[in-house]
Amino acid sequence: MSTIVEIADLKALARRRVPKMFFDYADSGAWTEGTYRANEEDFAKIKLRQRVLVDMTDRSLESTMIGQKVSMPVALAPTGLTGMQHPDGEMLAAQAAEEFGVPFTLSTMSICSIEDVASVTKKPFWFQLYVMRDRDFVNNLIDRAKAANCSALVLTLDLQILGQRHKDIRNGLSAPPKFTPKHIYQMATRPAWCMGMLGTQRRTFRNIVGHAKGVGDLSSLSSWTAEQFDPRLSWADVEWIKKRWGGKLILKGILDKEDAVMAAKTGADAIIVSNHGGRQLDGAPSSISVLPEIVDTVGDKVEVHMDGGIRSGQDVLKALCLGAKGTFIGRPFLYGLGAFGKRGVTTALEIIRRELDVTMALCGKRDIQDVGPELLYRG
Ligand code: FNR
Repeated sequence: MSTIVEIADLKALARRRVPKMFFDYADSGAWTEGTYRANEEDFAKIKLRQRVLVDMTDRSLESTMIGQKVSMPVALAPTGLTGMQHPDGEMLAAQAAEEFGVPFTLSTMSICSIEDVASVTKKPFWFQLYVMRDRDFVNNLIDRAKAANCSALVLTLDLQILGQRHKDIRNGLSAPPKFTPKHIYQMATRPAWCMGMLGTQRRTFRNIVGHAKGVGDLSSLSSWTAEQFDPRLSWADVEWIKKRWGGKLILKGILDKEDAVMAAKTGADAIIVSNHGGRQLDGAPSSISVLPEIVDTVGDKVEVHMDGGIRSGQDVLKALCLGAKGTFIGRPFLYGLGAFGKRGVTTALEIIRRELDVTMALCGKRDIQDVGPELLYRG
């Protein structure tokens, strides 16, 4: 087996183990994928200051995100269809995150349900909410997240309508998978994945099927999801969701400073500077490039987190230096999951922790709480 030293190694393995349509679903951005690429490339443009002969013993990466202790400020981002990268994917990723001491965020569009994940974890996880037109369903989801003891609601704001990813259309992606000859071939060439899928009952959107009106079976699910994302979602809706939830609230998908001001006014506990991993508005700037101005504008009013393009612990450090209190990773943990299941998610987190620790030390810092813009070159 090849040696795993960086996230790219996990990606290469996932490509070999996950059927093409689901690997591509993870590894794709909207339209030209320009924003997806910029998310990664803009990190590389930021240079670090090397320092020498400072005491580098007893280092600490511990921090908090929305007041909750984390072993490092890196949470797992909500990702749809995670249970298609690996059987029972959300349950395994949640367990890996729990053992590692970082937050796991379950997507509304997950394969395993809120209750499935709660049944295999001991500590509270976070739940990401998409606001659907069916408000009874939304209220019910919020109540289910409360009943499962979720400790934060992550409300996604940047998906009132769905961005287009060419690969998904070309692949005819759907969940549950269709059984065309092309799809059967893609799955048959990934026998371990197939065996795993045959061994689990969790193969469809379990937060939705059996819970939303008119979605009792698989055939009604696709049409329901296609029409349910709510194009009229507004700041007033954020207010009622905040009230109904009553706990810690994180607003995800802020990329513009004017929106950041509006988001801060809602009294949310944190915002996530994010362009949905380059999957929505292609042509939008990278998350890391707009982070500094958003921190400047609202950083004294609300905790600012970011995601998009983080592929190493170095990227995490750069985001923290530019003012993020916490970061999220999407694809890095999905690649780990696709490669090795739960162990792969742990490996992804270990890789990032090691890179973060060594980079912080070589920049002359011992405590992640002390990093700031002075570690970076300006210009
Ligand atoms: C996502 N993202 C996402 N966001 C969200 O709020 N709800 C969701 O269901 C999903 N689904 C989803 C699926 C897949 C396959 C990906 C890659 C991403 C966006 C996600 O939370 C996060 O913003 C990005 O993944 C961050 O970028 P990186 O780390 O993947 O570069």
